Amino acid sequence: MQASRPASKLKFKNDLPKSTVFGDSAILIYDGIFDRQVLTKKWIQTFERKYSVRSGEKLKNIDTFPKHIKSILKLAQGLPTQEITLVVLGGGSVGDFAGFVASILKRGVRLVQIPSTWLAAVDSAHGGKTGLNVSKIKNQIGTFYPADEIYLIKSILKTQPEARVVEAFGEIIKISLLEGQGLWREGQKLKSISSDYYWKLLPQMIEAKYRIVQRDPQERLGIRHLLNLGHTVGHVWESQLKIPHGLAVLLGVAFAVEWSFARGLMNSKIYYEIRLSGMGSYLPDRFELKKLLRKIKQPQKFLLQDKKISTNRKIRYVFVKSPGRPVIESVSVQELIAEMARQAQ
Ligand SMILES: NC(=O)c1ccc[n+]([C@@H]2O[C@H](COP(=O)([O-])OP(=O)(O)OC[C@H]3O[C@@H](n4cnc5c(N)ncnc54)[C@H](O)[C@@H]3O)[C@@H](O)[C@H]2O)c1
Ligand SMILES: [Zn+2]
Repeated sequence: MQASRPASKLKFKNDLPKSTVFGDSAILIYDGIFDRQVLTKKWIQTFERKYSVRSGEKLKNIDTFPKHIKSILKLAQGLPTQEITLVVLGGGSVGDFAGFVASILKRGVRLVQIPSTWLAAVDSAHGGKTGLNVSKIKNQIGTFYPADEIYLIKSILKTQPEARVVEAFGEIIKISLLEGQGLWREGQKLKSISSDYYWKLLPQMIEAKYRIVQRDPQERLGIRHLLNLGHTVGHVWESQLKIPHGLAVLLGVAFAVEWSFARGLMNSKIYYEIRLSGMGSYLPDRFELKKLLRKIKQPQKFLLQDKKISTNRKIRYVFVKSPGRPVIESVSVQELIAEMARQAQ
């Protein structure tokens, strides 16, 4: 199996392709909100086999998975295994869930992702990570199963409500800080977070993610771990405050920038350049971080359960020296908790 896909598998289109392009054995798995949208309602009806889901973390819950897989298996009945194509329309939760389904259904079937949120278009649809949550802890089980094709559809992405646009910004600033160079420089020009801006930079942002993934497709060398920038503390907020993933990551990136500066890894010139830059000015400030850190209860309990924490209670935390120069350092859970307490003061 190919572990990461070259850019040629990406298809940038204005509108959804006809369902017939996916063959006679296509099964559509989609976010049920699209049954209510004019743009997608008729398109969905053109699929003979389809399965509607409710997006969100509950969809990724292992407890309800058997019910879903039994229904999807029924849809697949009688189809030649080699010809089955799962077509997935939805945001990151639907993509993580359906990607996992594709990887285990009949031991693996063709997968086409049509990410419908900016977060999924920029990040989660690429790189092949699928995931389910166990006992409310995110992505405890999953597979590496890159999509065979990924469609980026302008009409779907550009009609998203403002909330979705803002939610994606966490992953966007994350990848821009990791990449540095042109992507970060483009970010200096950011005047307001908008769909137009995302669409324009989408190819560059996706390429930046692939550049990291291709060096370490299955996260064995520690390089791919860089993509966890902002996620360690982000996941604590996501789980405890029940805020969307992208917003939690945005907070997590701001926390990482603050810690990188306090630890002396980032100098004050770079720190203020980031904070005052077009993109960086959208990072939550110290006051906001303080307020939200005070809402976190028993971080130790959560951090020790999180999959990124090894048994010796050390975490590989992603710091930033400057845009384009991330660095991973091993820190103890106690150090992280002390830093959370420091920033909460
Ligand atoms: N696999 C990976 O590499 C990876 C990377 C980052 C995030 N993720 C996962 O992605 C998930 C978050 O992604 P998300 O925010 O896209 O999740 P989501 O699927 O829950 O979508 C968020 C909301 O947007 C709605 N929505 C979807 N498309 C829309 C559209 N076109 N117009 C209007 N509303 C729309 C959904 O119904 C939902 O209410 C998390 O579970 C996270 O763990 C995975
Ligand atoms: Zn993420």
